[in-house]
Amino acid sequence: MELVAALHKRKSIRGYLPDPVEKALIEDILKNAVRAPSANNTQPWEFIVVAGQMLEQIGQENVKRLRAMEMPAPEHPWFGWPKDSVFRQRQVDLAKELFSLMGIERDDKQKRDAWMELGFRYFGAPAAIFILADKSLSDAGPLIDIGAVMQNICLLAAEKGLGTCIEDQGVMYPQVLRQVAGFPQDKNILIAIAIGWPDPAFPANAVETDRVQPNKITTWMGF
Ligand SMILES: Cc1cc2nc3c(=O)[nH]c(=O)nc-3n(C[C@H](O)[C@H](O)[C@H](O)COP(=O)(O)O)c2cc1C
Repeated sequence: MELVAALHKRKSIRGYLPDPVEKALIEDILKNAVRAPSANNTQPWEFIVVAGQMLEQIGQENVKRLRAMEMPAPEHPWFGWPKDSVFRQRQVDLAKELFSLMGIERDDKQKRDAWMELGFRYFGAPAAIFILADKSLSDAGPLIDIGAVMQNICLLAAEKGLGTCIEDQGVMYPQVLRQVAGFPQDKNILIAIAIGWPDPAFPANAVETDRVQPNKITTWMGF
């Protein structure tokens, strides 16, 4: 697939068909994704790919903790959006769009909770790719490199007709990943990418997010 077409085709998929994704397909994606650049070619990324029953079990345990209102403990620097900022507004706009597509009313706590829980269950994807980095690395350092490999994974998946959703929600309870699936203690678990065949009938998959055009956010100098 042509690169520009892939950039436009990739979008977050939050509803999947139950069909499994062949291991060979994900292997191929990772083989090409690791061509991503990294500072001094340090390649700080490592992957754990979880599928099937084990992913299901992780999702259930995530949801248990979410319902118990256990404080999330992500292993990347925690980010927040200043109140009244354009960043917070964009987050609200996205939530409104997704809720509208899913028919979730603002004050329908039950449906809102169910939607939130779906995210903690990897949106029902048959597999998820977790990206980890060695704890000996600085907290923030590898994140830029990992962003590059993460985007490569999503674009390569799109080329194969697979859907992905990058998910902070999927790594909010790292201890679940360690307890249920034996993720190593000496790695930071930085991000999850749900991956699977998109369900064309799932309403939220129709989401089309917009972007601020570069002329509004670019300063040109010396031209
Ligand atoms: C670092 C990162 C974390 C994200 N975490 C979540 C998440 O936890 N749940 C979710 O539904 N989407 C998550 N997303 C997806 C974003 O909401 C999505 O990329 C954004 O709205 C742009 O939409 P698009 O991916 O469809 O182009 C995340 C994306 C990134 C880059």
